[in-house]
Amino acid sequence: MTNILMVCLGNICRSPLAEGILKAKLPRNSFTVDSAGTANYHSGSQPDRRSVAVAKKYGLDISKLKARQFDVSDFDRFDLIYVMDESNYRNVMALARDDNDKAKVDFVLNEIYPKENYTVPDPYYGGDQGFENVYNMLDEACSIIAKKLI
Ligand code: 4NP
Repeated sequence: MTNILMVCLGNICRSPLAEGILKAKLPRNSFTVDSAGTANYHSGSQPDRRSVAVAKKYGLDISKLKARQFDVSDFDRFDLIYVMDESNYRNVMALARDDNDKAKVDFVLNEIYPKENYTVPDPYYGGDQGFENVYNMLDEACSIIAKKLI
């Protein structure tokens, strides 16, 4: 089993989309995909309705996901931890206990643009187009992840 965690700030916009997209590209019997936020202010909430809508447009149902906060125990549960931006990266790395934990963490867009540490922009305060952009970036990155892992 390979366990993959997608991390953003609130776990309501970007990482639930990443979770839904990657899950759909990987066989269920040998992979688990989850998501979490570095902040706790949306814990227990469903994904943002704009993320739910763009996922639905592409045939994915992420409406049942529930936000939760990233926890240090996630380093034990997951093999790969993908973050959306620099702030997520710093927050997750600050909880890493050793080099083994740290080695699990990378920017999701480094799968497309290696070592560039590009950001998946936070679409929360923008319009629907931001969610479409985020969907497309994550879809491209997740296709590469799936191709590498399967
Ligand atoms: P996410 O987006 O990190 O992609 O889930 C955000 C959602 C909520 C907030 C910030 C970012 N917020 O400030 O409430």
